[in-house]
Amino acid sequence: MAINNDVLPSSSSSSSYSSSFFIFASSSAFTALVVLLLLFLYSNKVVKPRRRDVKPCLKLPPGSYGWPIVGETAEFFRRCMEGAPETFINDRVERYQLVQYKYCPFSFNIVQYYCSFLTRTYVICDDQGKEEVTVFPAAKLYLFELACRLFLSLEEPQCIAKLAADFNIFLKGLVSNPINFPGTRFYKALRATAAIKKQLVTLVRQRKVALQMGRASPSQDLLSHLLVTPNQNGAFMSEAMIVNNILMLLFAGHDTSAAAITSLVKALGEHPQVYHKVFQAEQSEIASSKVGAAGDDELLQWEDIQKMKYSWNVVSEVMRLTPSGIGVFREALTDLKYEGYDIPKGWKLYWSASFTHRDANLFPEPTKFDPSRFDEGGDHTLIPFSYVSFGGGPRMCIGKEFAKIIILTFLHHLVNRFRWDLVIPDEKVEYDPTPIPVKGLPVRVLPHIPSVP
Ligand code: HEM
Repeated sequence: MAINNDVLPSSSSSSSYSSSFFIFASSSAFTALVVLLLLFLYSNKVVKPRRRDVKPCLKLPPGSYGWPIVGETAEFFRRCMEGAPETFINDRVERYQLVQYKYCPFSFNIVQYYCSFLTRTYVICDDQGKEEVTVFPAAKLYLFELACRLFLSLEEPQCIAKLAADFNIFLKGLVSNPINFPGTRFYKALRATAAIKKQLVTLVRQRKVALQMGRASPSQDLLSHLLVTPNQNGAFMSEAMIVNNILMLLFAGHDTSAAAITSLVKALGEHPQVYHKVFQAEQSEIASSKVGAAGDDELLQWEDIQKMKYSWNVVSEVMRLTPSGIGVFREALTDLKYEGYDIPKGWKLYWSASFTHRDANLFPEPTKFDPSRFDEGGDHTLIPFSYVSFGGGPRMCIGKEFAKIIILTFLHHLVNRFRWDLVIPDEKVEYDPTPIPVKGLPVRVLPHIPSVP
């Protein structure tokens, strides 16, 4: 399978998400046919592997190219489905004695639009009456609705449901065989992308009119902001660029944050003592400080988020062990040397968060769940670029603070209302490409019993 550029929005930011290095093979019979076809093309020199283009005098890093065309992708993909993508790199590091992790500080242009309205808070748990909730789909829906409100001021349930349905098909096609044939994930994703863009173009046009008529405010949301803000040269974004940027932000923040929330709920279910510390020592105190004179809850503010230090350490430890993105591709823009080896221009490099986070030199006892690793002034000093859940350097996640607010706000409301049991203890996690428990993480939620005065 490949991470498909074609389904991704082509914004002015040439995103690091959009390159592909491994061609990931799926296990379906259809894939086998495709692989055979590609092998045929390869053997008939219709498709040439890139290594043929490499000058013989170069000292390339040791390793195997694997199978023609598909490389070692099937193996990589299998490890992801086993829930341990880092073992793919572990094996090769052992075999070739190479440190395979490197952050490559290539700089690209980036579109950085930030929302100024992020400290709004939402009540996320309407499931008081329900006993069992499946966390991943619930988190996805919550985040999608939130993004629709914050980015587009979109609140109509039907409109959101249509966008969400297309969006999920689009996400499935991001990592798929790039075969545009009816029935394939890729084919469906291209159609879904076209449908989403059509819907977004309609919204952009409606907003333009609303702004002209004074029925919408220039600061109301991201969409207005993109429409009214010129660049340094005074030029405004085109309709297509606005649509692509919105799609890019929805894509970049949606599954990553939903996966992080799901992993967090799983970890707190597995570590009740950590749950109690989050609830008793931090979140319940913050909740008590938010009870207004009339007995109603005040909204969380930025300062409240800053107080959630232990909770954020817990989230960080969850994302260390289960990073929402297992790694990111880079492209060598020029010939370069690394550790005495030549990396030719055009090669794709892949840095892996899951491997780095389990390196015992960077994180002692790497498999142990220990939020105190992230204590400020604690025993452990974090080495720069060792914790890379949000990447690092010039292409670091621009939504990190936004994600922090979303996740901590969610956690605040959740633990102050509920505790929960995992319906399937040790539920298997698959990376496809974000880490998702195979059954979506069903939990039994138990509302706190109010104490009798
Ligand atoms: C837990 C949640 C999130 C995680 C784990 C995450 C992780 C990442 C990672 C690993 C990268 C690549 C960094 C690199 O290439 O060095 C990235 C890039 C990016 N993220 Fe996030 N992200 C999250 C949430 C969000 C949110 C909520 C948004 C926006 C709404 C967002 C927007 C972006 C964008 C636009 C990029 C591309 C930046 C660029 O290429 O310059 N992310 N994110």
